[in-house]
Amino acid sequence: MSRTVFVNGDYLPESEGKISIFDRGFLFADGVYEVTAVVNGKLVDYGPHMERLDRSLRELRMAWPCSRDELRAIHEEIVKRNALKEGIIYMQVTRGAADRDFKFPKEPKSTLIAFTQAMKLVDNPNAVTGVKVTTTPDIRWARRDIKTVMLLAPVLGKQEAYEKGAHEAWMVEGGVVTEGTSSNAYIVKDGKVITRGLSNSILAGCTRRALFRLARDHGIMIEERAFTPDEAYAADEAFLTSASQFVMPIVEIDGRRIGGGQPGPVVRKLRELFLQEAATSG
Ligand code: PDD
Repeated sequence: MSRTVFVNGDYLPESEGKISIFDRGFLFADGVYEVTAVVNGKLVDYGPHMERLDRSLRELRMAWPCSRDELRAIHEEIVKRNALKEGIIYMQVTRGAADRDFKFPKEPKSTLIAFTQAMKLVDNPNAVTGVKVTTTPDIRWARRDIKTVMLLAPVLGKQEAYEKGAHEAWMVEGGVVTEGTSSNAYIVKDGKVITRGLSNSILAGCTRRALFRLARDHGIMIEERAFTPDEAYAADEAFLTSASQFVMPIVEIDGRRIGGGQPGPVVRKLRELFLQEAATSG
Protein backbone atom coordinates (compact mmCIF):
# COMPACT_ATOMS: atom_id res chain seq x y z
CA MET A 1 0.00 0.00 0.00
CA SER A 2 1.33 3.41 -0.95
CA ARG A 3 2.16 5.76 1.90
CA THR A 4 0.94 9.28 2.21
CA VAL A 5 3.87 11.66 2.55
CA PHE A 6 4.08 15.35 3.41
CA VAL A 7 5.83 17.72 0.99
CA ASN A 8 5.79 21.49 1.45
CA GLY A 9 2.25 21.79 2.70
CA ASP A 10 0.64 18.90 0.81
CA TYR A 11 -0.23 15.33 1.76
CA LEU A 12 0.43 13.20 -1.32
CA PRO A 13 0.80 9.57 -2.39
CA GLU A 14 4.51 8.78 -2.04
CA SER A 15 4.95 8.48 -5.84
CA GLU A 16 3.86 12.12 -6.18
CA GLY A 17 6.10 13.52 -3.43
CA LYS A 18 8.77 15.46 -5.35
CA ILE A 19 11.27 18.22 -4.68
CA SER A 20 13.37 20.39 -6.98
CA ILE A 21 16.74 19.21 -8.37
CA PHE A 22 17.97 22.61 -7.11
CA ASP A 23 17.06 21.85 -3.53
CA ARG A 24 20.05 22.67 -1.33
CA GLY A 25 19.47 19.52 0.68
CA PHE A 26 20.18 17.57 -2.51
CA LEU A 27 23.04 19.75 -3.77
CA PHE A 28 24.85 20.61 -0.51
CA ALA A 29 23.32 18.45 2.24
CA ASP A 30 22.19 21.87 3.50
CA GLY A 31 19.47 20.54 5.75
CA VAL A 32 18.60 18.97 9.08
CA TYR A 33 16.34 16.14 10.11
CA GLU A 34 14.69 14.34 12.99
CA VAL A 35 13.54 10.75 13.42
CA THR A 36 10.76 10.33 15.96
CA ALA A 37 9.45 6.97 17.13
CA VAL A 38 5.77 6.06 17.17
CA VAL A 39 4.41 3.44 19.57
CA ASN A 40 0.69 2.62 19.79
CA GLY A 41 0.12 5.46 17.33
CA LYS A 42 1.72 7.98 19.76
CA LEU A 43 4.86 10.05 19.30
CA VAL A 44 7.74 9.16 21.64
CA ASP A 45 9.95 11.94 23.10
CA TYR A 46 8.46 14.47 20.67
CA GLY A 47 9.38 17.49 22.82
CA PRO A 48 13.12 16.68 23.00
CA HIS A 49 13.20 16.00 19.24
CA MET A 50 11.76 19.44 18.54
CA GLU A 51 14.16 21.09 20.98
CA ARG A 52 17.02 19.47 19.12
CA LEU A 53 15.55 20.49 15.75
CA ASP A 54 15.35 24.06 16.99
CA ARG A 55 19.00 23.94 18.00
CA SER A 56 20.10 22.35 14.69
CA LEU A 57 18.24 25.05 12.74
CA ARG A 58 19.73 27.86 14.83
CA GLU A 59 23.27 26.51 14.51
CA LEU A 60 22.87 26.49 10.72
CA ARG A 61 21.06 29.85 10.67
CA MET A 62 17.98 28.30 9.12
CA ALA A 63 14.43 29.44 9.85
CA TRP A 64 11.70 27.18 11.16
CA PRO A 65 9.74 25.94 8.12
CA CYS A 66 6.41 26.49 9.89
CA SER A 67 5.18 27.08 13.42
CA ARG A 68 5.83 24.53 16.15
CA ASP A 69 2.11 23.80 16.39
CA GLU A 70 1.93 23.21 12.64
CA LEU A 71 4.87 20.83 12.75
CA ARG A 72 3.27 18.85 15.57
CA ALA A 73 0.02 18.73 13.59
CA ILE A 74 1.92 17.43 10.54
CA HIS A 75 3.49 14.67 12.64
CA GLU A 76 0.10 13.66 14.02
CA GLU A 77 -1.66 13.89 10.68
CA ILE A 78 0.87 11.72 8.88
CA VAL A 79 0.55 9.06 11.58
CA LYS A 80 -3.22 9.16 11.16
CA ARG A 81 -3.24 9.13 7.36
CA ASN A 82 -0.93 6.12 7.30
CA ALA A 83 -2.67 4.38 10.21
CA LEU A 84 0.80 4.00 11.71
CA LYS A 85 0.77 2.04 14.94
CA GLU A 86 4.49 1.47 15.35
CA GLY A 87 7.49 2.84 13.49
CA ILE A 88 9.14 6.16 12.84
CA ILE A 89 8.45 9.54 11.34
CA TYR A 90 11.29 11.01 9.33
CA MET A 91 11.17 14.76 8.81
CA GLN A 92 13.64 16.96 6.99
CA VAL A 93 14.04 20.69 6.57
CA THR A 94 16.40 22.16 4.00
CA ARG A 95 17.39 25.68 3.06
CA GLY A 96 15.22 25.18 -0.01
CA ALA A 97 15.66 25.40 -3.76
CA ALA A 98 17.77 28.13 -5.36
CA ASP A 99 20.31 28.47 -8.17
CA ARG A 100 23.43 26.57 -7.17
CA ASP A 101 25.56 28.92 -5.10
CA PHE A 102 27.40 28.05 -1.89
CA LYS A 103 26.26 31.26 -0.21
CA PHE A 104 22.83 31.28 1.41
CA PRO A 105 20.01 32.30 -0.97
CA LYS A 106 18.90 35.90 -0.43
CA GLU A 107 15.34 34.84 0.34
CA PRO A 108 15.52 31.18 1.35
CA LYS A 109 12.22 29.30 1.28
CA SER A 110 12.73 26.14 3.21
CA THR A 111 11.69 22.71 2.05
CA LEU A 112 9.83 20.55 4.57
CA ILE A 113 9.11 16.88 3.99
CA ALA A 114 7.96 14.09 6.26
CA PHE A 115 7.18 10.43 5.82
CA THR A 116 6.42 7.39 7.95
CA GLN A 117 8.14 4.03 8.08
CA ALA A 118 6.40 1.12 9.80
CA MET A 119 8.86 -0.82 12.00
CA LYS A 120 8.80 -3.28 14.87
CA LEU A 121 10.29 -1.23 17.66
CA VAL A 122 8.91 -2.94 20.77
CA ASP A 123 9.07 -6.60 19.68
CA ASN A 124 12.28 -6.15 17.75
CA PRO A 125 13.87 -9.62 17.55
CA ASN A 126 17.35 -8.04 17.66
CA ALA A 127 16.67 -6.97 21.23
CA VAL A 128 16.25 -10.60 22.30
CA THR A 129 19.51 -11.87 20.78
CA GLY A 130 21.52 -8.66 20.96
CA VAL A 131 23.46 -7.29 17.99
CA LYS A 132 27.05 -7.18 16.77
CA VAL A 133 29.06 -4.04 16.18
CA THR A 134 32.38 -3.33 14.52
CA THR A 135 34.63 -0.30 14.95
CA THR A 136 35.69 2.09 12.21
CA PRO A 137 37.54 5.44 12.12
CA ASP A 138 35.29 8.45 12.69
CA ILE A 139 35.74 10.47 9.51
CA ARG A 140 32.86 12.92 10.07
CA TRP A 141 33.04 16.72 10.30
CA ALA A 142 33.54 18.51 13.63
CA ARG A 143 29.88 19.49 14.31
CA ARG A 144 28.23 16.17 15.01
CA ASP A 145 26.00 17.86 17.58
CA ILE A 146 23.96 19.23 14.65
CA LYS A 147 21.64 16.66 13.11
CA THR A 148 22.41 17.40 9.47
CA VAL A 149 21.53 15.22 6.49
CA MET A 150 25.23 15.07 5.60
CA LEU A 151 25.41 11.34 6.32
CA LEU A 152 27.94 9.89 3.89
CA ALA A 153 30.42 8.89 6.61
CA PRO A 154 27.68 7.05 8.57
CA VAL A 155 26.49 5.40 5.33
CA LEU A 156 30.01 4.09 4.63
CA GLY A 157 30.48 3.01 8.26
CA LYS A 158 27.15 1.17 8.38
CA GLN A 159 27.82 -0.56 5.05
CA GLU A 160 31.26 -1.68 6.28
CA ALA A 161 29.64 -3.09 9.44
CA TYR A 162 26.96 -4.84 7.38
CA GLU A 163 29.58 -6.42 5.11
CA LYS A 164 31.32 -7.76 8.24
CA GLY A 165 28.06 -9.31 9.46
CA ALA A 166 27.44 -6.60 12.07
CA HIS A 167 24.49 -4.34 12.74
CA GLU A 168 26.20 -1.09 13.64
CA ALA A 169 29.66 0.50 13.52
CA TRP A 170 31.10 2.36 16.49
CA MET A 171 33.23 5.20 15.27
CA VAL A 172 36.63 5.76 16.86
CA GLU A 173 38.59 9.00 17.05
CA GLY A 174 41.76 9.67 19.03
CA GLY A 175 41.66 6.09 20.31
CA VAL A 176 38.20 6.41 21.89
CA VAL A 177 34.67 5.64 20.73
CA THR A 178 32.58 8.65 19.74
CA GLU A 179 29.22 7.00 18.91
CA GLY A 180 27.52 4.66 16.47
CA THR A 181 26.81 5.69 12.87
CA SER A 182 23.17 6.32 13.86
CA SER A 183 23.11 5.70 17.62
CA ASN A 184 24.82 6.55 20.90
CA ALA A 185 27.26 4.05 22.42
CA TYR A 186 27.47 2.63 25.97
CA ILE A 187 29.30 0.00 27.96
CA VAL A 188 28.53 -1.36 31.43
CA LYS A 189 31.25 -2.23 33.95
CA ASP A 190 30.58 -3.38 37.51
CA GLY A 191 26.94 -2.29 37.26
CA LYS A 192 27.81 1.24 36.08
CA VAL A 193 26.88 2.57 32.64
CA ILE A 194 29.68 4.43 30.84
CA THR A 195 29.00 6.73 27.88
CA ARG A 196 30.68 9.70 26.35
CA GLY A 197 29.71 13.15 27.60
CA LEU A 198 27.96 15.61 25.28
CA SER A 199 30.08 17.90 23.09
CA ASN A 200 30.38 18.76 19.40
CA SER A 201 31.83 15.28 18.89
CA ILE A 202 28.53 13.41 19.20
CA LEU A 203 24.82 13.88 18.69
CA ALA A 204 22.83 14.53 21.87
CA GLY A 205 20.45 11.59 21.51
CA CYS A 206 16.86 12.02 22.67
CA THR A 207 16.85 8.34 23.65
CA ARG A 208 20.07 9.00 25.59
CA ARG A 209 18.37 11.83 27.41
CA ALA A 210 15.39 9.61 28.36
CA LEU A 211 17.78 6.84 29.40
CA PHE A 212 19.66 9.20 31.75
CA ARG A 213 16.40 10.16 33.43
CA LEU A 214 15.22 6.56 33.75
CA ALA A 215 18.60 5.41 35.09
CA ARG A 216 18.63 8.19 37.68
CA ASP A 217 15.08 7.40 38.78
CA HIS A 218 15.95 3.72 39.21
CA GLY A 219 19.33 4.05 40.89
CA ILE A 220 21.46 3.00 37.92
CA MET A 221 24.74 4.96 37.86
CA ILE A 222 25.96 6.60 34.66
CA GLU A 223 29.50 7.87 34.22
CA GLU A 224 30.01 10.30 31.35
CA ARG A 225 33.42 9.72 29.86
CA ALA A 226 35.02 8.40 26.70
CA PHE A 227 36.04 4.73 26.52
CA THR A 228 38.42 2.82 24.26
CA PRO A 229 37.57 -0.18 22.09
CA ASP A 230 39.78 -2.31 24.41
CA GLU A 231 37.72 -1.21 27.39
CA ALA A 232 34.57 -2.10 25.45
CA TYR A 233 35.89 -5.57 24.62
CA ALA A 234 36.36 -6.19 28.37
CA ALA A 235 33.00 -4.71 29.41
CA ASP A 236 30.31 -6.71 31.21
CA GLU A 237 27.65 -5.39 28.83
CA ALA A 238 27.33 -3.01 25.90
CA PHE A 239 24.40 -1.33 24.20
CA LEU A 240 23.30 1.43 21.87
CA THR A 241 20.37 3.83 21.87
CA SER A 242 18.41 5.59 19.15
CA ALA A 243 14.85 6.55 18.30
CA SER A 244 14.59 3.62 15.89
CA GLN A 245 16.17 0.98 18.14
CA PHE A 246 15.42 2.28 21.60
CA VAL A 247 17.85 0.53 23.99
CA MET A 248 19.54 -2.24 22.00
CA PRO A 249 21.87 -4.83 23.61
CA ILE A 250 25.23 -5.50 21.95
CA VAL A 251 26.73 -8.98 22.35
CA GLU A 252 29.79 -8.77 20.12
CA ILE A 253 32.28 -6.02 19.29
CA ASP A 254 34.89 -6.60 16.55
CA GLY A 255 34.31 -10.35 16.87
CA ARG A 256 34.83 -10.41 20.68
CA ARG A 257 31.91 -11.66 22.73
CA ILE A 258 30.60 -9.29 25.36
CA GLY A 259 29.07 -10.57 28.58
CA GLY A 260 29.08 -14.20 27.46
CA GLY A 261 27.27 -13.32 24.24
CA GLN A 262 23.90 -12.61 25.90
CA PRO A 263 22.13 -9.34 26.68
CA GLY A 264 22.99 -8.51 30.29
CA PRO A 265 20.80 -7.47 33.23
CA VAL A 266 21.48 -3.72 33.13
CA VAL A 267 20.62 -3.30 29.46
CA ARG A 268 17.56 -5.55 29.79
CA LYS A 269 16.32 -3.45 32.69
CA LEU A 270 16.94 -0.16 30.85
CA ARG A 271 15.16 -1.41 27.73
CA GLU A 272 12.20 -2.54 29.81
CA LEU A 273 11.99 0.86 31.52
CA PHE A 274 12.18 2.64 28.18
CA LEU A 275 9.45 0.45 26.64
CA GLN A 276 7.17 1.02 29.62
CA GLU A 277 7.53 4.75 29.20
CA ALA A 278 7.17 4.67 25.38
CA ALA A 279 3.93 2.70 25.70
CA THR A 280 2.42 5.44 27.82
CA SER A 281 3.87 8.52 26.05
CA GLY A 282 2.07 10.88 23.75
N1 PDD B 1 19.90 8.57 14.30
N2 PDD B 1 24.01 9.54 17.11
C1 PDD B 1 23.81 9.63 15.78
C2 PDD B 1 24.97 9.92 14.91
C3 PDD B 1 22.52 9.45 15.25
O1 PDD B 1 22.32 9.57 13.93
C4 PDD B 1 21.45 9.16 16.13
C5 PDD B 1 20.03 8.97 15.64
C6 PDD B 1 21.71 9.07 17.51
C7 PDD B 1 20.62 8.81 18.51
O2 PDD B 1 19.74 9.91 18.65
P1 PDD B 1 18.23 9.69 19.06
O3 PDD B 1 18.23 8.88 20.33
O4 PDD B 1 17.71 11.04 19.26
O5 PDD B 1 17.59 8.95 17.93
C8 PDD B 1 23.00 9.29 17.96
C9 PDD B 1 18.57 8.44 13.72
C10 PDD B 1 17.72 7.45 14.42
C11 PDD B 1 18.73 8.17 12.23
O6 PDD B 1 19.58 8.83 11.64
O7 PDD B 1 18.00 7.33 11.68
